[in-house]
Amino acid sequence: MKNAKLSEAKNAKNDEFYTQYEDIQREVNAYLEYDPDVFRGKTVLLPCDDPEWSNFTRFFAQNFENFGLKKLISTSFAHESKNYKGAYQLSFFEENAPQFDADKTKTRGKIFTLTRDSNKSGVIDIDDLEWQYLEGDGDFRSDEVKALRDEADIIITNPPFSLFREFVAWIVEADKKFLIIGNQNAITYKEIFPLIMNNIVWLGIGFKGGATHFINKYYTDYATASDHKEGMIRVSGVVWFTNIDHGRRHQPISLMTMADNLKFSKHKEIKEYGYQKYDNYEAIEIPYTDAIPSDYDGVMGVPISFLPKYCPEQFEILGMCENLDLYGLKTRVYTTQECQERYFEIFGKKGTYDLNASGVVNGIKVYQRILIRKREQK
Ligand SMILES: C[S@@+](CC[C@H](N)C(=O)[O-])C[C@H]1O[C@@H](n2cnc3c(N)ncnc32)[C@H](O)[C@@H]1O
Repeated sequence: MKNAKLSEAKNAKNDEFYTQYEDIQREVNAYLEYDPDVFRGKTVLLPCDDPEWSNFTRFFAQNFENFGLKKLISTSFAHESKNYKGAYQLSFFEENAPQFDADKTKTRGKIFTLTRDSNKSGVIDIDDLEWQYLEGDGDFRSDEVKALRDEADIIITNPPFSLFREFVAWIVEADKKFLIIGNQNAITYKEIFPLIMNNIVWLGIGFKGGATHFINKYYTDYATASDHKEGMIRVSGVVWFTNIDHGRRHQPISLMTMADNLKFSKHKEIKEYGYQKYDNYEAIEIPYTDAIPSDYDGVMGVPISFLPKYCPEQFEILGMCENLDLYGLKTRVYTTQECQERYFEIFGKKGTYDLNASGVVNGIKVYQRILIRKREQK
């Protein structure tokens, strides 16, 4: 019970951290490099945002003319509806605004729109944002935010961590272009992985070293002293999920042949044991992305960290090693008795060793693996 409470609180707080301007800029630049007109004439929706804290609205408002946007819409979520509320602060948008309403400020979401030079300054920028209260609390699942989704061409945000699956389904059902931040664990979700496998969704350029600092008001930062930044939380394992094309994904990974890996790999176990076959898949185990042999034609099990480097012209994804044989690639399914016997052999006591959860090499289960095969090179 205590644990359930803790993780609930942790999840709720995880919903309340905000993305840095430079992280948004770095990622968005990659799409612009690939297609300078990617946003031209488009309506961009930034849901689950909060211009008071977030930089998404600021970034797109400041670049409105530069990107040739048609319309920018962002919505925020009502204070009273947030899982983790913290102390209430009146937003600077509401201070002195004629439409401020003391009855609505905590319970309604807000909509911010940018289409024109409303203050006649000669440029369209953040100072031209116009806002009003929504009818509801700004929940992305509400009919009014759904209508905004339907109006938009592109949806961009860092959605609430605790509702990530629902958020992706919400975008996919509307068939929209999107760019969103999520935890890399989401790659293996049964709702997400098939989209990645079928090249409907892919990973963006990503954060340097797979981690970044988010602006944070509530969370305890466990980062080591050298990584700690005041007012921030360091989060590792974060990635961008998108269906907008960028150049990196068309650059093949540079790899050595199998023979060269066996001789020159920097990984001791490759040189010592070579490439081992799984007991339960017709595939070989590749523990490191840089150890993928360039000339192997069969199926290979690679770590999840392969995905940020995945080039669909170089490899095809066939499935993932997991309990259910969703991709029809298992050659052996272990019985409960076999899993129990194996546990006893390894640990000398009663238990269950879940051999079905991933690839198995000589009776030892490896980490989660994605199954890939080289594409025919033209
Ligand atoms: C991780 S924060 C990111 C905020 C902002 N997009 C950014 O990246 O800076 C997620 C935001 O979604 C809001 N939120 C939580 N549940 C929501 C829901 N059901 N509908 C809309 N927004 C929600 C949270 O209150 C929070 O402001």
